[in-house]
Amino acid sequence: MPRFVIAIVFALLGLLVLVAPWPGIILSAGEREIRILAKQYAYTPGVIRVTRGDRVTLVLEAEDVTHGLYLDGYDVDLVAVPGRASRATFVADRPGKFRLRCSKVCGTLHPFMLGELVVTPNSPFWRVIGVTILAAIGTVAFLRAGRREVTEEAPA
Ligand code: CUA
Repeated sequence: MPRFVIAIVFALLGLLVLVAPWPGIILSAGEREIRILAKQYAYTPGVIRVTRGDRVTLVLEAEDVTHGLYLDGYDVDLVAVPGRASRATFVADRPGKFRLRCSKVCGTLHPFMLGELVVTPNSPFWRVIGVTILAAIGTVAFLRAGRREVTEEAPA
């Protein structure tokens, strides 16, 4: 394969790794403040998405009666009285799906008051790794192709 074809193929692959949209992934890790409204018998939003490494502050507000929020796996427990929000900050250092459940008896359907925290892997990190690996393979392929061209051109 000629060198310029290899260069183009790897440049395109690198671009794909860098800009292709990955489903459900938020690109920047950082500070996140998420307001959660609790009302018999649901949280709004019901699903919270953050990126691994984010410093997450949950602000729980109760609209009707006192509700709680216990976050499995992160050991966060909040209780909000109507009119008085409560907050907790933690670093989302474990990827995966974590159940939220109401930790204060708030009515007949209290056991079914659930939500979910989704911690997605830090995608910029994996993109950088992907591009690095591609660049390494591309360089080897490029150099090998060059060597072959030189040998083929050499007089017999
Ligand atoms: Cu809301 Cu129990």
